[in-house]
Amino acid sequence: MKVLILGADGYLGWPTCLYFSQRGHEVIAVDNYFHRNAATEHDCESLIPTPDLVQRAEIWEELTGKKIEVHIGDVTNYDLLLSIFKKHKPDTVVHYAEQPSAPYSMIGQKEAAFTLQNNLITTLNIAYAVKEGNPDCHIIKLGTMGEYGTPNIDIEEGWLEIEHKGRKDKFLFPRQAGSLYHTTKIQDTDLLWFYTRMWDLRVTDLMQGPVYGLSTDETDLDKRLMPYFHYDEIFGTVLNRFIVQAVAGYPLTVFGKGNQTRGFLNLKDTMQCVYLSATQPADLGQLRVFNQLTESFSVNQLAEKVKKIGDRLGYNVKINQIKNPRVEKEDHYYNVHYTGLMELGLKPHYLTDEILENFFTITGQYKNRINKDAFFRGISWK
Ligand SMILES: NC(=O)c1ccc[n+]([C@@H]2O[C@H](COP(=O)([O-])OP(=O)(O)OC[C@H]3O[C@@H](n4cnc5c(N)ncnc54)[C@H](O)[C@@H]3O)[C@@H](O)[C@H]2O)c1
Repeated sequence: MKVLILGADGYLGWPTCLYFSQRGHEVIAVDNYFHRNAATEHDCESLIPTPDLVQRAEIWEELTGKKIEVHIGDVTNYDLLLSIFKKHKPDTVVHYAEQPSAPYSMIGQKEAAFTLQNNLITTLNIAYAVKEGNPDCHIIKLGTMGEYGTPNIDIEEGWLEIEHKGRKDKFLFPRQAGSLYHTTKIQDTDLLWFYTRMWDLRVTDLMQGPVYGLSTDETDLDKRLMPYFHYDEIFGTVLNRFIVQAVAGYPLTVFGKGNQTRGFLNLKDTMQCVYLSATQPADLGQLRVFNQLTESFSVNQLAEKVKKIGDRLGYNVKINQIKNPRVEKEDHYYNVHYTGLMELGLKPHYLTDEILENFFTITGQYKNRINKDAFFRGISWK
């Protein structure tokens, strides 16, 4: 397969490049370094120092002899994207090239406008580039479980059959986002669903929960191949934040009551899910939706798990319930259906004590790079 990975420098993008490359596929990687620049601007750099995308591709080639072709450029630039599509004619495009942070999108008007413009135009451009450059190409777009919000009914896998006044039809599951970022992810899904109906696109939308971890078989080959890793309030996902807070001796920041429940998955499982979707593509004219998670936890359950292992390793972990800066339900029903990726062959890596210990060991090696000011900035939803 020829795989075009957009947002290839990112937390998920870089390990995905290696995962496909290692399995013999031709990888073309695109990124505009938005994330690196935003992290510098907001003084919340990666815990792990990571070479830039061009250097990483050189290191990978030096170690394995496998080549990843890199383009540094902006996916909102349609001419650039179309030229890449026409040159390479990818079988699959994996779309990670978005502003991925809910808190970032709630900082102020400038960040909200950027998020809206960036996330929608990248998605629009991909739909057009596929139509004009390679209509058979399979689009894999990263959605998020946050699109569904926390409804008081079971969350189905993308679609809901509704019977109304004696008639039945199938619709995208109702969505109600909890941040502007999540709203753009809903709009992305709607854009692709619209163009799938108009142009017979072939699309898989992966409704992913928060990802944790920093290790895959490929990134473990050499320290310089590790993904960048955020533990700050803006770009760090909750478990990644808690582990680094525990290592730094900073009380774990539980927002509000801590009963907020979400579906999570290991970084290794994101690789599997994207790969399984690519090798078993959607049909032309199909928007296929999978809920991408392997288990659910409340924030309190995660904090307790981190405390248990952290204490065992001598970190004396404290948990601090702080006033919730977000607008979200702190007690709610949460029951998600997620069988589609298992049926494709996903073999989950669950959050075991051993995985947590390994996580502590790796982050502990970078303790002197932790910037405690980045843990909590109190970005308010109001
Ligand atoms: N990490 C998670 O837990 C998680 C959970 C659910 C969904 N997602 C989704 O997965 C995708 C990737 O997330 P991530 O955590 O790897 O984020 P990330 O910020 O680490 O990676 C995204 C990459 O895209 C690049 N990018 C952004 N806009 C671009 C543009 N216009 N042109 C070129 N490159 C651009 C950024 O520089 C960055 O390197 C996002 O769409 C996000 O919404 C992530």
